[in-house]
Amino acid sequence: MFTLRQSLGALAAIAAAPLAYAVPITTFSRIGKSSNGMDILKLQVHAAMSPGHLTTNTTMSFVVDTHDMRTTCFGEWAPEGPFPEGEYRPCANSSVGWNFKEDTYKGMNEFTLQLEYSYEDDSVGEYPYNRVTEFSHANITTANIDCSAKTESCQQCTNSTITAIVYASIA
Ligand SMILES: *[C@@H]1O[C@H](CO)[C@@H](O)[C@H](O)[C@H]1NC(C)=O
Ligand SMILES: *[C@@H]1O[C@H](CO)[C@@H](O)[C@H](O)[C@H]1NC(C)=O
Ligand SMILES: *[C@@H]1O[C@H](CO)[C@@H](O)[C@H](O)[C@H]1NC(C)=O
Ligand SMILES: *[C@@H]1O[C@H](CO)[C@@H](O)[C@H](O)[C@H]1NC(C)=O
Repeated sequence: MFTLRQSLGALAAIAAAPLAYAVPITTFSRIGKSSNGMDILKLQVHAAMSPGHLTTNTTMSFVVDTHDMRTTCFGEWAPEGPFPEGEYRPCANSSVGWNFKEDTYKGMNEFTLQLEYSYEDDSVGEYPYNRVTEFSHANITTANIDCSAKTESCQQCTNSTITAIVYASIA
């Protein structure tokens, strides 16, 4: 797992390296495995000490469908923060990681969720240069998540799919 910022730092380092040591890392625009979108399903957020969820942290879970695999992701944070920003947190299958975009968490129904998905694709190069990472993001708002004051929890709107749009990929 690495952050986009670190990845871009790595790119800069590669660019600065003597040609002889240059490795074929490139940012590129293409239709990757996630078809330029990762689906978020079954998103739930529970407030700390909400009925049935007696935790001192706010908790979150969701399923990511990258279009060639699915995994479940969990998160928790203290209500007053710090919020899960910066490093990507691994999902159950660590090929997928998530975090909140810096300074976007305003509440359980207002934040920007970021995902990264890493996989091998021999069409971009031979091992070990066949690793692709795609980065995507989605705004979570009252348009796609429904919060209940009674249960102090939020659920993805029935039958809705939230698509996290791929905005960068590197190999
Ligand atoms: C994660 O998903 C990838 C892609 O489907 C799969 O190849 C890999 O075996 C999975 N890893 C685990 C630990 O389940
Ligand atoms: C609350 O979440 C934070 C961040 O994940 C974690 O470090 C901390 O241990 C959690 N606290 C409790 C009581 O589980
Ligand atoms: C999220 O919302 C912000 C502010 O409205 C907007 O600038 C940004 O483009 C949106 N991002 C996505 C992924 O929709
Ligand atoms: C959700 O989808 C199911 C199956 O397609 C349908 O029966 C149900 O009416 C839908 N519910 C809403 C609230 O749209």
